[in-house]
Amino acid sequence: MKTEIVRQLTQLANKFKHLHFNSAMSAERAADYSIQADRLYLNYARNPLNQHVIDALLNLADSSDLRGKINAMFAGDIINHSERRAAKHWLLRAPLNREDNDSVAVHKVVDKMAALVQKIDDNTLLAQPVTDVICVGIGGSELGSRVVYEALTMGRKKRITVHFVANIDGMAVADAIANCTPQTTLFLLISKTLTTFETTKNFNTLKQWFCAQDGLDAAQFYQQSCIITANVEAALATGVPDSQIFTFWDWVGGRYSLWSSVGLPIAIACGMDAFHELLAGAYAMDEHFRRTDFADNLPVMLGLIHLWYGNFLGYPTRGVMPYAQNLKSLPEYLQQLEMESLGKSVDESGKPIDFTTCPVVWGSAGSNTQHAFFQLLHQGTQIVPLDFIAAVTPSDNLLPELASSLREHHTALLANCLAQSQSLMNGGDTRDEGHGHFPGNRPGNLLLMDKITPYSLGQLIAAYEHKVLVQSNIWGINAFDQFGVELGKQLCKQILADTDGELTFAAIKQNLAK
Ligand code: F6P
Repeated sequence: MKTEIVRQLTQLANKFKHLHFNSAMSAERAADYSIQADRLYLNYARNPLNQHVIDALLNLADSSDLRGKINAMFAGDIINHSERRAAKHWLLRAPLNREDNDSVAVHKVVDKMAALVQKIDDNTLLAQPVTDVICVGIGGSELGSRVVYEALTMGRKKRITVHFVANIDGMAVADAIANCTPQTTLFLLISKTLTTFETTKNFNTLKQWFCAQDGLDAAQFYQQSCIITANVEAALATGVPDSQIFTFWDWVGGRYSLWSSVGLPIAIACGMDAFHELLAGAYAMDEHFRRTDFADNLPVMLGLIHLWYGNFLGYPTRGVMPYAQNLKSLPEYLQQLEMESLGKSVDESGKPIDFTTCPVVWGSAGSNTQHAFFQLLHQGTQIVPLDFIAAVTPSDNLLPELASSLREHHTALLANCLAQSQSLMNGGDTRDEGHGHFPGNRPGNLLLMDKITPYSLGQLIAAYEHKVLVQSNIWGINAFDQFGVELGKQLCKQILADTDGELTFAAIKQNLAK
């Protein structure tokens, strides 16, 4: 980070930490400190900053050659240097370009997905109609499709239930199979590498369950399975038919892969139209990010504000609070996106850096949060800036008889969201003595979708992907590798190899002595 700008921002932060912004709030400030990017709106007025801070942050972005990095990413250059790979997740949502072989390959896979979805809908894939889909995958091979699946409750086909199995805990498999009939279940093995221990173990256990039923065997299990992977060779060796193997590429990072065939569970559950809409929303955000001046660029401003929190105001964590029950898992998704991408302490060339990078990202769905941990956010000794996420209009509902009541719920949900953001920033007193004092000056952004639709979800998720690039570029770190997950994996293998199939209490204690 350029020292001179860092010095300037540090000075500003020292001043702004102690200024109270409640008197600065106005209609003008709310309008000025906001960005409407198609169907996604960001308001960042409730933050300790003014135009000087914004200008200095924009200088910091320029001085890191952010424009150059954005151009390089969209040109398909190698920007993941440690793994010598491009980062072309954006190509997964771009319109077909017949001149570009990768684009042609992407669209071919989407057509293959559509053919599978059609067969499921026509009841021609299995001998009986598919009632359940069990998706086996972890991290980037699970979180994105689960979050979107959960978010789109109202747009799902009613006759198919999707189950996600990620955890190595056998309870994950047990939960998934509890109400499934093997003959009407489709199994999706989702793994970029096909080497992830949890995923292969879970898939094999499901095979065992399947084969334990009368008249069913491994050959039939593979007929009822699809594999989604970048390791096509290994997939072909399994016995799963070629028409049920869906590839993606090494230039798609696992946590950026939701837009590829990894999103097949969404396409099966919600239909290809919804999947295309999701891609269209993300593409709209790509275009906005690529072509908009930084001061009006939603991912750029969001990334800069997040950087202001951690590097200058010294806030060690950041909360993400979706005011939407169906987005309850979004914080988990963002934890991987942000913490796996930005949780680094070496620069792109592997040299140690001497400043703060990614904060701990955490959160869950409001309004529950208010009755759990918001006490600390209002009156605790740490300041935790928040991203509030909400939708203006409620989702379409399947219960017309409750329409007016559900609208009231939505209004109350939004009122809660606004009340929390306002009271955290402005503070106040609810009674005379100390217990009733709310210090305020606790920042928050509001990210507002028009409605929870595939399109607006596409926009929202792509905006977070791009804001990660903004921060990584200013910090000079690689947002696309994740070496930090390897050591634990190696040790786990070793511990398993050292056991005779069981980790007894005595063996656990032995390990704790190492
Ligand atoms: O262990 C971390 C990780 O490598 C993530 O980056 C990835 O999303 C996840 O594991 C799953 O990997 P795969 O898709 O290869 O099974």
